[in-house]
Amino acid sequence: MTHVVFKSEQAALALLAALPKAELHVHIEGTLEPELMFALAMRNGVALPYKSVGEVRAAYAFDNLQSFLDIYYAGTQVLITQQDFFDMTWAYLERAHADHVVHTELFFDPQSHTVRGVDMGTVILGIHRACQQAAAQWGMSSALILCFLRHLSEDDAIATLLAAAPYRAHLVGVGLDSSEQGHPPDKFARVFAKAAAQGLKLVAHAGEEGPPAYVWQALDVLGVHRIDHGVRSMEDAALVARLAAERIPLTVCPLSNMALQVTPNLATHPIKTMLDANLCAMVNSDDPAYFGGYLNDNFAAIITALSLSPQDVLTLVRNGFEASFIDDRLRVQYELQLDNAMAQWTVQHG
Ligand code: ADE
Ligand code: ZN
Repeated sequence: MTHVVFKSEQAALALLAALPKAELHVHIEGTLEPELMFALAMRNGVALPYKSVGEVRAAYAFDNLQSFLDIYYAGTQVLITQQDFFDMTWAYLERAHADHVVHTELFFDPQSHTVRGVDMGTVILGIHRACQQAAAQWGMSSALILCFLRHLSEDDAIATLLAAAPYRAHLVGVGLDSSEQGHPPDKFARVFAKAAAQGLKLVAHAGEEGPPAYVWQALDVLGVHRIDHGVRSMEDAALVARLAAERIPLTVCPLSNMALQVTPNLATHPIKTMLDANLCAMVNSDDPAYFGGYLNDNFAAIITALSLSPQDVLTLVRNGFEASFIDDRLRVQYELQLDNAMAQWTVQHG
């Protein structure tokens, strides 16, 4: 099949607006915009090391994952009450709704809050209440994934899972994030086994900065259902073959990879190669307040940089629904809406 590119930038933006989408890799703390960070700091009497919103944004120039994480964890200090977690989540959901996101699976990092004396229930109930409001107002579906911070001990992760037990009904799964290098997945074998025994879905960041060996471990030792990022898997042909054969989803975040210098630029980003290798890759925003773009911004950037076709975009969006943890009835409903939207767009712009 010949590669058909978009006829215009306007046609690409119209497609992004038309297609219902799922977002599966977004850290809710990474959606905290500097304006809200300042408002919450004021409300809670928390001192920030910045004088203005402009100064915050100027600090967002990263050399690698760790240089980002240091600033990201500092930003979480303004989150104290249930209302704070609600406000942050609601702001993200409104923004996602504007991008025609109909389903979202939100990561949260409870250890970055409980270490400051914020209760697990405050975190989960605040986020959950915003999700409920989005369901009531727009019919948006969502789910929460509790992430363990891999730079901390496995015992700390086990205590965190235990603290979340009263809120088990609000969680769909557990994940693994934070500093990847030097903290391989197998450090968390026991806590992932405990989570699996509770019927929680399993995901892990792997192959973002870490080597392909960490992706193998996430699959074989932790038994994850999805890999977050996984872009370095492309260095290992046997791993690519395995990911393709088993349709293991990879939640890819292009603007994040560029901001954290995982890839030197978007023109060399592997997401198109991943699609060509038949991998179940999809697009996500990771920490949109820090990396310069929400979901449609990520799509628009890779459409331009990699000359993606409308069919490539459809495949990426379809993969998002395939990889999501929704039930099959809802999945079929979303896929039907997706096909209808694509057909309509094709009539107008194809
Ligand atoms: N926490 C928030 N964003 C992250 C990322 N991109 N990688 C690892 N941990 C994270
Ligand atoms: Zn992430």
